[in-house]
Formats: sequence, structure tokens, C-alpha cells
Amino acid sequence: MQPSLPVAALLFALFALPVSAEEKHDFAQIKIDAGAAFFAQECRRCHSTDADKSSYGPLLDGVVGRRAGTFQGYPYSKALADAGFVWTEGALRAWMEDNDAFVPGTKMRHVGLTDPTAQDFILAYLGSLKG
Ligand code: HEC
Repeated sequence: MQPSLPVAALLFALFALPVSAEEKHDFAQIKIDAGAAFFAQECRRCHSTDADKSSYGPLLDGVVGRRAGTFQGYPYSKALADAGFVWTEGALRAWMEDNDAFVPGTKMRHVGLTDPTAQDFILAYLGSLKG
């Protein structure tokens, strides 16, 4: 069945609408929320996001742009403490994908998060955590 003219016009109007700045902002928030859900499932059991709680892994607030192995007071493996690179998005992707290949000798147990969309979401979430 062909859509009647008013329906076609309505569809056209919907798809032709420009995305407002507010909606773009919502997309960013949706990515952060999805990242929080992935993080809760894949990372939180070792990485608390509460600075007052000690956890097995280092606090990741402000990790994007931070030098690896430098969160004050955390007992890093020698491998990560000596790594000397900065956590860029690319480094974080490589780490999520195969951390013990990326930094051999790390004490973080192998995580194999290869789905780029899941990585995108977690990156958006990590980026929202201020140091
Ligand atoms: C089984 C526990 C465990 C899980 C699960 C885990 N981590 Fe880790 N993570 C660690 C430990 C322990 C370290 C410290 C590694 C070292 O010193 O070699 C670490 C270190 C890191 C670092 C380096 C931080 C810095 O200050 O240099 C990042 C980034 C990180 N983890 C991200 C993640 C993300 C993202 C996830 C989820 C996809 C995740 N981790 C899941 C235990 C874990």
C-alpha cells in the first residue's frame, strides 16, 4: 500500500529535521550511560569509581590523558609503572582488546573486549570521569 500524501509529507518532515544541539548532547549522554553499563559489567569488580574505596585495580577517574602507571599510591606492576606512555583513546582500545599483549607483565588479568562499539561506549564513560 502506498502511504497517503499526508503520511509521506510527515515522514519527509521528520527525516529532514535538522538535529538540534540539544539532541546531540543527548546522544553524548546516552553513550556515557551505555558505557557505565558496560563498565559495571566488565570492569567495576576490580575498578571502583569511588575515590574513598580501595579496589584491586587503580582508580580510573581522569585516566584519559594520564601517564600510565602513575595514579598516586597505587601499587602498579613494574611493567605498567615503567611503561611511560600516556593513555590516549588508541592506547585504551588496545588495552581493552588485549591488555597483556599491549603491556606484557601487567598484573591486570586478561580482558578481551574487542567490540569497537563497546569500546566507544566505555571510552565515552571514562572520558566523563574527571580526575
Ligand atoms: C580482574 C580485575 C580487573 C578487571 C576485570 C579490569 N581491570 Fe583494569 N586493572 C586491574 C589491575 C590489577 C590493574 C593494574 C595493572 C598493573 O599494575 O599492571 C589495572 C589497570 C588498568 C588501567 C591502567 C590505569 C593506570 O593508571 O595506568 C586501565 C586503563 C584499566 N585497568 C582499564 C580497565 C577497563 C576499561 C576494564 C574493563 C574493560 C578493566 N580495566 C577491567 C584489574 C582489572
